[in-house]
Amino acid sequence: MSEAISIRGLRFSYGLDFELRDISLTVERGNVTTLLGPNGCGKTTLLKCMNALLTPEEGIVQLNGKDVLRMDRGELARLAGFVPQSHTPSFPYSVEDVVLMGRVSCMSIFQQPSSLDYAKADDAIEAVGLSVLKDRPYTQISGGERQLSLIARAIAQEPTALLLDEPTAHLDFKNQFTVLQMVRKVARERGMAVVMSLHDPNQAMLFSDTVALMSSGRIVSLGKPEEVIGPENIKQLYGMDTEIIVHDGRKLVMPLIWPGER
Ligand SMILES: Nc1ncnc2c1ncn2[C@@H]1O[C@H](COP(=O)(O)OP(=O)(O)OP(=O)(O)O)[C@@H](O)[C@H]1O
Ligand SMILES: [Mg+2]
Repeated sequence: MSEAISIRGLRFSYGLDFELRDISLTVERGNVTTLLGPNGCGKTTLLKCMNALLTPEEGIVQLNGKDVLRMDRGELARLAGFVPQSHTPSFPYSVEDVVLMGRVSCMSIFQQPSSLDYAKADDAIEAVGLSVLKDRPYTQISGGERQLSLIARAIAQEPTALLLDEPTAHLDFKNQFTVLQMVRKVARERGMAVVMSLHDPNQAMLFSDTVALMSSGRIVSLGKPEEVIGPENIKQLYGMDTEIIVHDGRKLVMPLIWPGER
């Protein structure tokens, strides 16, 4: 099995207190790996290093065996689809055009989008449930609908590595699950390696093959979700008491923050 994403010995600093360090992680095609950890632990910074938006001081990030820092933007765009944590639209492109832009990385600058490109874009728009909005300007849709458009764009791109920074932020209760289910499905069916950051341990438990627990710039635990997500690790990460509930053979994390009020 090929390692689509390989990170070895990565260290990164913004020059202030925070430092991402000793990061080593491999993700195979078809695998969903979730970064879970408190605000400020370094999830976004790591995703940006993986997409060559930040340059580590030490270590290497490879996609399909090649150093991301040695790729030109076109090659990187073919291999990595990145959905940032927040995005402010600047031009009133239609939703369809925004998604179609994911396909541009597959074309030369002289090519027009083909019917295949439109079909892939429309498939992705349908998968996230935005077909009725596809002609609407991107500046005139809700925050959650924008998030869904960007996820559709990354999927239409058909990258080797799909990097999603808090893909469920801004999404309603149902859409959070729809998107995570879809991410897992496309990873399996299209052999994409997915790395995403999430804040909900239960979603991490349900939708990941591997979970990397992060704290203060380091991966402190890495493994199968049910092995790494438990009351001890949650306490270490968040200083919070929880218990595990098993329902239908599935483990769920239940917070115990108001024991006196139950
Ligand atoms: N551009 C920057 N310059 C300096 N420090 C930064 C910059 N961006 C983030 N940091 C700091 O780096 C640390 C890691 O930030 P990062 O955004 O990676 O955390 P995160 O795990 O994604 O958090 P969140 O869950 O809130 O999104 C934090 O202490 C943050 O304040
Ligand atoms: Mg972040």
